[in-house]
Amino acid sequence: MLDQPIALSSSTRSVARRPVDGVLGAIGDTPLVHLRRYPDRRDVAFFAKLEATNPGGSAKDRPAARMLDDAWARGLVGPGSTVVESSSGNMGVGLAQACRCRDLAFVCVVDSRANVANVRTMEALGADVRIVTRPDPETGDLLTARRALVAEIVAATPGAFRPDQYANPENAGAHEHGTMREIVEALDGRLDVLLVATSTTGTLRGCVDALRAHGLHDTTVVAVDAVGSALFGGERGRRMLPGFGAGMRTELSESADFDRLERVADLDCVVGCRRLALREGLLAGASGGAVAAAFDRIAPGLEPGSRCAAILHDGGTRYLETVYDDAWVARELDCPPARLAALVDGTPGSGR
Ligand SMILES: Cc1ncc(COP(=O)(O)O)c(C=O)c1O
Repeated sequence: MLDQPIALSSSTRSVARRPVDGVLGAIGDTPLVHLRRYPDRRDVAFFAKLEATNPGGSAKDRPAARMLDDAWARGLVGPGSTVVESSSGNMGVGLAQACRCRDLAFVCVVDSRANVANVRTMEALGADVRIVTRPDPETGDLLTARRALVAEIVAATPGAFRPDQYANPENAGAHEHGTMREIVEALDGRLDVLLVATSTTGTLRGCVDALRAHGLHDTTVVAVDAVGSALFGGERGRRMLPGFGAGMRTELSESADFDRLERVADLDCVVGCRRLALREGLLAGASGGAVAAAFDRIAPGLEPGSRCAAILHDGGTRYLETVYDDAWVARELDCPPARLAALVDGTPGSGR
């Protein structure tokens, strides 16, 4: 079953989608792709949810739109409001998009790790982007520094609204009722392993809630966090790639429920990304490389016939100057091109 030939392009037989209402109507219903060439083992199935196909380019479009809808419905935000949020980049793009659609002002606080492309995209969508370059003097962390600046801006701005993605249950709700529901439906409720990269843990929380709601109590949930992230008792350390991991424990993470934790270092993210690109022709963002690397670690222990799914939160074009740049990898991660190539290849003795 798992060894069928590679499917040809579906472009000639797909059913045209109906028009949607505005750009926010195009969020969700992202493709779930069977990655037949990625796994070393041919007797397990590996599926990837391509969140880069959302209009803002990431999974964060979903919670951005949902948090604003909820706040609007509850009268917390309305004409004349200014939305203020901290983001590693993707939530900022999602909120910039959703704020434009409601004619709201938006101030986004990012830090120096944010991708240039994300900052430019937010600005093109009319956002006022503030970039924090110095860690919080007390915690030594950029995320807490970002959140402190958000609090200052909110206090100084009449009509300010802070969605607070780190604690807002609608963040998780977007993935419960969107991302994970779509995966369960696409796989007819047959899923053995789910891999999810973590930061606010909204995706993880929402996915676990959806699995429960659909009665999938036996699916093993693997949380994929960064080496250097302070989530789940981790020790805060140097991390160069934006998106996943967090420099503090988020409110949503306090009650996060999962079966297994895999911590992935920056270099392993790069290796996972490069393997996805070379084997599948799929350009994933850094956290997509992390879940691919975590899949490689757990794959040897899987039962034959296992069905695994991973969420690829964003795409690789925003990481061309980092993950996909040999000179950056050599300089920042101390891995010269020849060693990187051996790691990607999985050559024995290469450390993989
Ligand atoms: C690229 C990427 N991957 C993973 C995550 C983690 O998602 P969550 O915040 O829902 O835990 C994020 C969140 O910003 C992200 O931008």
